[in-house]
Amino acid sequence: MASTLFLALAMNSFTVFAQSMLPSSSTEAEALLNSGWWGNTSSADHCVWCKIPYTLGNLSQLVSLDLSYSNFDGILPHTLGNLRKLVSLDLSNNFLQGSLPLALGNLRKLVSLDLSYNYLQGSLPLTLGNLTQLVSLDLSVNLLEGCLPFTLGDLTQLKYFRMPWNNIIGCIPSELGNLKKLVVLEMINNNFSCPIPSSMGHMTNLSHFLLQFNNLYGSIPQELGNLKNLVVMNLGLIDFVVPFPHLLVI
Ligand SMILES: *[C@@H]1O[C@H](CO)[C@@H](O)[C@H](O)[C@H]1NC(C)=O
Ligand SMILES: *[C@@H]1O[C@H](CO)[C@@H](O)[C@H](O)[C@H]1NC(C)=O
Ligand SMILES: *[C@@H]1O[C@H](CO)[C@@H](O)[C@H](O)[C@H]1NC(C)=O
Ligand SMILES: *[C@@H]1O[C@H](CO)[C@@H](O)[C@H](O)[C@H]1NC(C)=O
Ligand SMILES: *[C@@H]1O[C@H](CO)[C@@H](O)[C@H](O)[C@H]1NC(C)=O
Repeated sequence: MASTLFLALAMNSFTVFAQSMLPSSSTEAEALLNSGWWGNTSSADHCVWCKIPYTLGNLSQLVSLDLSYSNFDGILPHTLGNLRKLVSLDLSNNFLQGSLPLALGNLRKLVSLDLSYNYLQGSLPLTLGNLTQLVSLDLSVNLLEGCLPFTLGDLTQLKYFRMPWNNIIGCIPSELGNLKKLVVLEMINNNFSCPIPSSMGHMTNLSHFLLQFNNLYGSIPQELGNLKNLVVMNLGLIDFVVPFPHLLVI
């Protein structure tokens, strides 16, 4: 099925987005051609198993880029870091490989970053901590490894942080306790092995706290008793007990 790219011009900003299973149109093909980053517009299939081009970094006015479900493979080009006006970046549900470029940390206006359902590898760059406007970070279902960088504690606007089904090891950094706006924290099925930091008791807006299928051990910190908005918690601890009877434990 053809993937179709749309490019809209509004308020001096480009918006490019792709959706599968929509008819292609010559207007958007022309627009893409004029934007200079899409090679061949004579084909109806603008993107079938193609790479994200380095020249994408030339679209410096982009504020929103959605290339989800578009059969992209290959790596994330470091030139993504040139899109300094991006507020929303969705590259989910592709076949992207390789590691997250350090230059991602340049996208300081990003509010939403979705890289879920790819084959991304390597450890998370420390520079992710520069994305201080992020409200939603989704890295679910990839092959990410290494420890979580402590700089994630700088993402103080974050409400939704999902990265289940990766290979993250080591400890949950105590700095995550700075994320006081967090509502959803989901890290199911990684390989964390440490006690739960007591600082997590500061995330008082947390409603979904899911850490099962890791190697966490130790007791539940008393401080977690402050998490009055919890709806679902599963820490997957051995000898797990339920000190907070209002919780649904799954
Ligand atoms: C562009 O696509 C057309 C139609 O699929 C194909 O025949 C042509 O070889 C392609 N041109 C280049 C430069 O890839
Ligand atoms: C577009 O990007 C490429 C690769 O980053 C660069 O070499 C080229 O000079 C850029 N072109 C323009 C017109 O900025
Ligand atoms: C961006 O992140 C890196 C790595 O954490 C850090 O060294 C650098 O100071 C940060 N830059 C700014 C301007 O915050
Ligand atoms: C927690 O959520 C409430 C209701 O959405 C909001 O008013 C409050 O500011 C939030 N607290 C923090 C620390 O963000
Ligand atoms: C998890 O980490 C431990 C070391 O902490 C290692 O021995 C084990 O192989 C890892 N398991 C997986 C599935 O990666």
